[in-house]
Parts: sequence; structure tokens; C-alpha cells
Amino acid sequence: MSNIEKKSINIPHLINLPKIVDPRGNLSFLEEETHLPFKIARTFWIHDVPGGEKRGGHAYKTQQEFIIALSGSFDVVINTGKYEQRFHLNRSYYGLYVPAMIWREMDNFSTNSLALVVVDKPFNEEDYIRDFSNYNQLVNGQ
Ligand code: TYD
Repeated sequence: MSNIEKKSINIPHLINLPKIVDPRGNLSFLEEETHLPFKIARTFWIHDVPGGEKRGGHAYKTQQEFIIALSGSFDVVINTGKYEQRFHLNRSYYGLYVPAMIWREMDNFSTNSLALVVVDKPFNEEDYIRDFSNYNQLVNGQ
């Protein structure tokens, strides 16, 4: 798929990354212009999540992100107010692209899981929508 086609898909979707298979251990990598529909401004990671905990229940007004399970597994649940979709991430050679204005929550973290998130903007609390009914009102008018 070309970059132009990738950029036109503005819904959450999985993106495969290269996997260089090697008997010494496999290697994957990520290049912003090649694999992502945005340029990376920030990276953060979520680790040491206690069993049963949830993270990330919010939407971003303008931020786009790409979420990878670098280690272990977890689920990213997308909810647009119109539909809900659960993505189970459990390999480090693909991830989930999440555009702006999509409500997303992360749960079902395995022991020692490591979630890597790359984002197209520096941290800005003003970009968060943290109330689902507020989000639903903005997106769906209800
Ligand atoms: P937040 O994104 O709100 O996580 P969650 O939705 O899972 O609760 O981040 C938690 C806290 O960390 C919040 O106070 C903001 C801070 N934070 C930063 O300072 N920089 C960052 O890049 C991120 C992602 C969070």
C-alpha cells in the first residue's frame, strides 16, 4: 500500500511492520514516513500495569497515534459512540493506528506487558477529551 493510500484511511486499523527473521533473534523496526501516516513528535510507554487495570479511556482532539505491544499483550478498545471494536495486540511487528477523535481504552494487560505509543504531537492536556458523553456529543451530536 502506498503512503497516499495509507493516509486516506482515517479509521483505526492495524499496520504491519517489517520482521527480519534471524536465528539469532528477530528484528522489527518503524520509520515514520514509510510505515506511519504521520511524523513522530513523541513516544511514551505503559508498563507495570497491575492485573485487571485499564488505561487510556479518552480521545484526542487532534493527536494521532500508533500503539504496539512491544512485549506481552493487551487490548485496545475503540468506541466511536456508533460502534465498538476490540483489537488484541500481542506481537511487536504490528500495531494499531488510531486517528484523532476516536475514543480508545486499553485493558486485558498480560503480566509484564509493555505498550509503546508513538504520537504526532507533544503532550498537551488541552488535546484530551476525557468524558465519554462529551465525546459522543461532539462526534455524534448525542
Ligand atoms: P494519560 O494519557 O492521561 O493516561 P491514562 O489515560 O491512561 O490515564 O496520562 C497519565 C498522566 O501522565 C497524565 O497526568 C498526563 C501524563 N502524561 C505526560 O505528562 N506526558 C505524556 O506523554 C503522557 C502520555 C502522559
